[in-house]
Order: sequence, then C-alpha cells, then structure tokens
Amino acid sequence: MTDINSSANPTAHHATRAFIERAALMLRAENVRKTFTLHGQGGIGIEALAGVSLDVERGECVVLVGPSGAGKSTLLRCLYGNYLASGGSIAIRDDNAPLQHLDITGAAPHDVLRLRRNVVGYVSQFLRVIPRVSTRDLVAAPLVARGVAEDEANTRAETLLARLNVPQRLWSLAPATFSGGEQQRVNIARGLIARHRVLLLDEPTASLDAENREVVSSLIVEAREQGAAIVGVFHDEDTRERVATRRLPLAAPRTRTPLGVAA
Ligand SMILES: Nc1ncnc2c1ncn2[C@@H]1O[C@H](COP(=O)(O)OP(=O)(O)O)[C@@H](O)[C@H]1O
Ligand SMILES: [Mg+2]
Repeated sequence: MTDINSSANPTAHHATRAFIERAALMLRAENVRKTFTLHGQGGIGIEALAGVSLDVERGECVVLVGPSGAGKSTLLRCLYGNYLASGGSIAIRDDNAPLQHLDITGAAPHDVLRLRRNVVGYVSQFLRVIPRVSTRDLVAAPLVARGVAEDEANTRAETLLARLNVPQRLWSLAPATFSGGEQQRVNIARGLIARHRVLLLDEPTASLDAENREVVSSLIVEAREQGAAIVGVFHDEDTRERVATRRLPLAAPRTRTPLGVAA
C-alpha cells in the first residue's frame, strides 16, 4: 500500500482517499492561491493567498490570524466558493457526491448551491437585508430551504433570536432600520440556525458588546462540540481564546509585477 502522505504534490486522488479513510475530515484546502489583478495599473497583481493548505475535521475550530490585508476574508470566500481560487484545490465533504466530497474549485453552480444548503454556512460581518422580509422569516429561511415545516422553523428562529437578545418587538419587522449590533445578531442567528457541518465565520462579533460577544462565543463552542468543522476570523483575542482549537497564521500579501515579485 502506498503512503498517501508521501507525495509533495498531493493529487485529487489523494483527496478522495482522505475523505474515504478519515470519516472526520470535512474540508481540505491544498495549496490555495489567489491573485487579484489590478487592471489599469500595468498588470500589477496582489498575491492575497500564496499557497494555503488546511485540513479541518469535525469538532475543530481553526482561527485565521494575521494583519489586516493578510487574506483572511479572501480565504473564507474561496472556501465558500464566492471567489474562484487562482490555483490549488478545495474539497468539502458531501454525502451526495459520488466520491464523498466536492471539489468546489471545479464544481457546477448547482452543486455549490446544494452544498451551501446542506453542508456549508457562511457568516460575514454584515447582514444582507432583504426588503420587507421579517427578521423571523429571514432567520428561519435556511431551515425552510431544507424542507423543515414553517412552524418549527419559526419556533427555532425565535429561540435563537431570544438567546441573542434581539428584542421580541423586532421579530416581525424587517431589519433594515436595526442598529449595527442588532443586524449582526440577526445575521448570526441566520448563519447558525441550520447547524451546518462546516461553518465559515468572518468577524461575526465585530460590532457586538461584551455581553453579546459572550453569547455568540458560547453558540460557536456549542456548534463545535456538536461536531461542526469551523474556520473563522475573530477581531478580539477573548473570542479567539474561547473558540479556537488551532490557529493558522496568514502573512501579508506581496505585490507581483509582470517582471517578478516586489516587496
Ligand atoms: N475583490 C478584490 N479585488 C482586489 N483586491 C482584493 C479583493 N479582495 C481582497 N483584495 C486584496 O487582497 C488582500 C487581502 O484582503 P482580505 O482577504 O480582505 O484581508 P483580511 O481579511 O485578512 O484583512 C488585500 O490586499 C486586499 O486589498
Ligand atoms: Mg477580512
């Protein structure tokens, strides 16, 4: 039997074996690169990710650390399939896929959408408000999309909103006029309600007070203990300390000119 770790350049075949042999493996990123080309500036490129590799198992929370501009948000967007990586591969466990994982760098859009409904959740710093949709419905939507009955979905939405200290008088209103902190808590409720098995969290607590940050930290730890595989960025050290099982440092990007790498 060959050693699956012996190759310096693991192939898709190795990813397949890894997902079959390691039942806990939920996400594998291999040598992910992302370069942004600044058009109109002589073809200068920003190498936001210069080859990031990462395995995440059930029950792990990998916290991305690094200075502003280090590529933390870019990596999360690549993992969610929002940005197409410039190189490398990203595979996520998918029970509906023939090889038990989906390589999202080459996947069809409908497969990515199915994965987002069933497996991968993403919570950014900002709520995308949908005009005239109530807070309760907005939070319940990910469950309804999975076929959960509306009554049950609404009840679970209310439980989560109450826990996040979103006042009951707001539940029937659209969150467009809510404060930044209220919108962020609605966003977190919407992101956590469906108990996705992979969670990508981009500074979900940035505009919360200490008390609500504590509630969110507890919810993240609970998700982790229930087996979620989490990759996240958190702006305060207290939250990082609470939720992290491991940290992945990312370095500041380099600018790349057509002639080579500049500092
Ligand atoms: N859509 C984009 N177009 C061009 N450059 C981008 C884009 N998104 C991010 N970048 C650049 O990539 C680098 C990493 O950004 P980002 O991932 O947001 O960093 P972080 O989240 O660690 O602060 C930065 O130099 C940023 O300006
Ligand atoms: Mg960021």
